[in-house]
Amino acid sequence: MAFKPANNIQDLQYFGEFGGVNPSISDSSTYTFLSAKTMFDTFEGNADGCYLYSRHSTPSNLYLGEALAAMEGTETANVTASGMGAITPVIMQLCGAGDHVVSSRTIYGGTYAFLKNFAPRFNIATSFVDITKLDVVEAAITPNTKVLYCESVSNPLLEVADIAGLAKLAKKHNLKLVVDNTFSPLSISPIQLGADMVIHSLTKFINGSSDTVGGVVCGSQEFINELRSVNDGACMLLGATMDSLRAASVLKNLRTLHIRMQQHSLNASYLAEKFEGLGLKTVYPGLQSHPSHKLFKSMMNDKYGYGGMLTIDVGSLEKANALMELMQEKNLGYLAVSLGFYKTLFSAPGSSTSSEIPEDEQKEMGLSDGLIRFSIGLDADIERTYSVMHACMKELNIL
Ligand SMILES: Cc1ncc(COP(=O)(O)O)c(C=O)c1O
Repeated sequence: MAFKPANNIQDLQYFGEFGGVNPSISDSSTYTFLSAKTMFDTFEGNADGCYLYSRHSTPSNLYLGEALAAMEGTETANVTASGMGAITPVIMQLCGAGDHVVSSRTIYGGTYAFLKNFAPRFNIATSFVDITKLDVVEAAITPNTKVLYCESVSNPLLEVADIAGLAKLAKKHNLKLVVDNTFSPLSISPIQLGADMVIHSLTKFINGSSDTVGGVVCGSQEFINELRSVNDGACMLLGATMDSLRAASVLKNLRTLHIRMQQHSLNASYLAEKFEGLGLKTVYPGLQSHPSHKLFKSMMNDKYGYGGMLTIDVGSLEKANALMELMQEKNLGYLAVSLGFYKTLFSAPGSSTSSEIPEDEQKEMGLSDGLIRFSIGLDADIERTYSVMHACMKELNIL
C-alpha cells in the first residue's frame, strides 16, 4: 500500500492536559519523582512515561518527535536544537576512532565541513563520492566503513540519491544508511526505500516560518535510545536539545506542511519550466532534463511534487549578485540563505552555504560561480512573480 506521510500526521490525536486540542507545553527543565526508586529506574531507562531532565527528553519534544516519526514511518524520533545538532550526534554515535564514512560530495556545507575538518580530530575519516554512481560508492567502502551518508536531494546541486540502491549496498556491507531529507519532506520517504535513519533540518520546510533552527533524527527505538543514553548517548552528552516551547510551535507548523509543499512545488515547477524555456541553465528535479528526473519520480509519494528548490546559472558571480540584489529590491524575495519560507529566498551557494567546500572541489562537482539557489516561496500569483523576475533578468542583460 502506498505510504501516505501526511495522513500519518493528520491521524495523530491530542488531548492536552486540560483537554486542549494542542498538547500542553511542558515548561520545565526538571521533573519531580514521587519515589526515589522511580528516579533510579528512570536514569536506568526503565521507567516509561517518566521524565528526568529536559536535555534527555520532554513531553513537548516527544510529541513533536512522535509526529515526525509518523511522517517518516520510523518507530520513534529525537528532536534537536538544529539540523547540525542532529547530524553530528548521529555520526558520532555510529562511528568511533578508526571508522570511516562514505558520503555524497554534494551535501550541505556545514555537514561537509564537519566530516572533512572536524571528525578527523576523532580519527573518523570520510571519502566524498559522486553519490549518483553506485559503483563509485561501493568502490569507496572499506572494512572500516560504518556509515553511508547522503541527502535525498542534495544541497545545493539538487542531485538525487538512489536510496533503494544505496540501501542495498548498505545491507550488503553491513553499514548504516543515513539520509538527510531536508529538501524533500513528504515527497520522499527514505525509510520506505530502505534507509536506516532519516535526518531533517526542521529549520527549513518543516517549520516553514524561518523563526527558529531545529532538527530531528528519525529511526528505530533502539538507535534513538542509544542517542539518548545518559552513559554514552551523543544527543544526551553533546547536549543540542530543542527547547519545549519551540517544539510546541514547530509541531503546530508541521500540520500545514502538506499544503505548503504542494504550493512550493507548484511554484518552483512553474518557474523552472519558464526559466528553462528562456534558455537559462536550470536545475530542478521536476524537469525532464534533470539527470535524475525519472529516479525522483520513481521514489516520490503522490501529491507533493518535486520540491521548492531550483538553481539557475547566470554565468558569473557578478551577474548572480546583481540579479539577487535587484530581485530583493523588487520585493521578489530575500537575499538570504536557508529555505522553506513563504517568501522566495535566494543565495549564491559558492560564496555562502557551500563556501566551506574548497574552490577546486566546487568546480569538480559542478558548483559554478554564477549559480543561484532559489527556495521558491508560497506566492499566490506566480505568473506575476515570473514577469517581474523576467524583467530583472532583461534589465541586467542576463537574457
Ligand atoms: C540539507 C541540509 N541539512 C542540514 C542543514 C543544517 O541545518 P541547521 O542549519 O538547522 O543546523 C542544512 C542547513 O542549511 C541543510 O540545508
